Amino acid sequence: MLNEAQEQVFESIASDLIQQGYSIQHSALPLSLCSGLLYRISSMNEQDFHRAGTGRQQDHQLNTFVRRDRIHWLSSENTYEQAWLDYAGELQRYLNRRLFLGLFSYECHFAQYRPGDFYKKHMDAFQGQANRILTTVLYLNPDWETQHKGELVIYDPQQQEQELLRVMPRFGTLVTFLSEEFPHEVLPAERERYSIAGWFRLNSSNSLQPDPPA
Ligand code: OGA
Ligand code: MN
Repeated sequence: MLNEAQEQVFESIASDLIQQGYSIQHSALPLSLCSGLLYRISSMNEQDFHRAGTGRQQDHQLNTFVRRDRIHWLSSENTYEQAWLDYAGELQRYLNRRLFLGLFSYECHFAQYRPGDFYKKHMDAFQGQANRILTTVLYLNPDWETQHKGELVIYDPQQQEQELLRVMPRFGTLVTFLSEEFPHEVLPAERERYSIAGWFRLNSSNSLQPDPPA
């Protein structure tokens, strides 16, 4: 069940998405949820993260010119990870009711960017492929200051050289945007930088390839 505060956050995400295609929410989540995720990160080792690639399946490549982050996919085996998956599930239900988006599944990973790491300008989905519809990014960096850099830069869908806005990866900030619309980039940071990047997908099953929920 949603409490009133959560419902308000979800409603402002929904109306931002309608009006501008993206939403930035500061301290959107229950503090206990964010703190749990921070605790989870602090209890993970180097071996729990692996180098992120670009592209899917056969195309999967380790392209260190494009991205340098290390990732860990969330699963229901860990309580803290499950708490985030539950929250995303609530958001999915809300947005489906409110916007008829037909979001079907959600996948997400922790990302660790070490000082100097980046993710060059990219799209999370390409129009027509009907896979990733809505991107979420949750930041988990307490005491992040301007001088630490590492902003997320979101570009204008029409004029893709034009910056729309920069988001500091501050603890508890939740960004959502339409995956097929917005080119974006992670600038190098001066400190270690943690986020959870996630994607809601449509059900892309057909008679040959059933698409199980994640
Ligand atoms: C991604 C991504 C943004 C961030 O993983 O696709 O764009 O700020 N991440 O971590
Ligand atoms: Mn991205």
